[in-house]
Amino acid sequence: MKKVSVALTGAGGQIAYHLIYSISKGEVFGFDTQVDLRLVDIPEVLPKIEGLVMELEDSRLTLLSSVSIHSDQQLDQAFQSIDFAFLVGAFPRLAGMERKDLLEKNGLIFKTQGEALGAYAKPSVQTLVVGNPCNTNCLIALSHAKNIPSNQFYAMTLLDEFRASYQLAKMCQVPVVDITDLYIYGNHSATQFPDFTNARVKDQPIISVLDQSGLETTFVPMIQQRGAAVIKARGSSSAASAARSAAETAHKIWSQSSTPFSVAVVSSGCYDAPDGIVVSAPYYFKDGKGRVYDRFDHDATAKAMIEKSYQELLQEREAVIALGFLDE
Ligand code: NAD
Ligand code: LMR
Repeated sequence: MKKVSVALTGAGGQIAYHLIYSISKGEVFGFDTQVDLRLVDIPEVLPKIEGLVMELEDSRLTLLSSVSIHSDQQLDQAFQSIDFAFLVGAFPRLAGMERKDLLEKNGLIFKTQGEALGAYAKPSVQTLVVGNPCNTNCLIALSHAKNIPSNQFYAMTLLDEFRASYQLAKMCQVPVVDITDLYIYGNHSATQFPDFTNARVKDQPIISVLDQSGLETTFVPMIQQRGAAVIKARGSSSAASAARSAAETAHKIWSQSSTPFSVAVVSSGCYDAPDGIVVSAPYYFKDGKGRVYDRFDHDATAKAMIEKSYQELLQEREAVIALGFLDE
């Protein structure tokens, strides 16, 4: 039986409550792989996590070989020789807050965690950042993780892709599997560009079926604001859907998916992305190496929307440099 050591921060939070089960049931690392799970949260939350561990014990999870609980002050133990890190723990966006408001609260968390990954995790560790603002938190973490290649850090935008494919499927009155070639560009924020211009329905361009200007004025803002709409309706941010997307993203990374999926990685210049930011684009693996799938064309309107999101990421980068979480 194979074995994988996995750390999950924010273990007492609402996303973790769902994600832990996907990890423990084999949906992420495979049904032939045992999981050594390290749960991390702030000290006040650790008693609650003991209750969660009781639930895990009561669930007869045959692939869960061990579970341990760690405070955020014990990252030397939590991250020791891990193969995969889910960085979910963060201060969540509350109603009325924009993601950039979170930069200051979360900068220190991700600097500390990046340093600890560099110091204690396996050099091959793969890291998925979910905690918002996830692109810039990911940038901070990878910048402080000595000896770990920056292309082993990812920020989650698959939830946005899932949201976008559902809405297009609904508009076209087809099952969601009939929507393909739909990817998210830029930031996981209200500037993201869900690229309907290359999307296809039953292998036909979406723009040959739906009105393009309607897509620009209704579909794009709906996806950009979907996270905020969930917060408004639920009173707290998306959790089950975020956990489902995190599990699926990690599975695609771990299994080196040859089919492209939306995820944010450090810029390689594809799609004119500026250096030094973590940007979403279609991503896939070939010959054991991850790369941006760079074969889509964008018209001037799409390019302008993508550029707007890059500009926001550059501003976030400037803000965290000013706060001292990143070097120039
Ligand atoms: P939550 O508030 O329910 O849980 C967050 C947990 O993180 C809490 O238990 C908190 O104590 C813990 N935490 C805080 N600081 C920590 C630290 N330094 N180390 C370890 N744990 C720490 O939040 P949630 O709903 O689970 O969401 C978690 C994050 O994911 C938020 O930032 C949210 O905005 C983000 N999110 C991202 C996406 C995405 O698509 N990228 C989607 C949904 C939510
Ligand atoms: C989401 O997209 O649901 C999360 O990132 C929460 C948010 O702040 O929008």
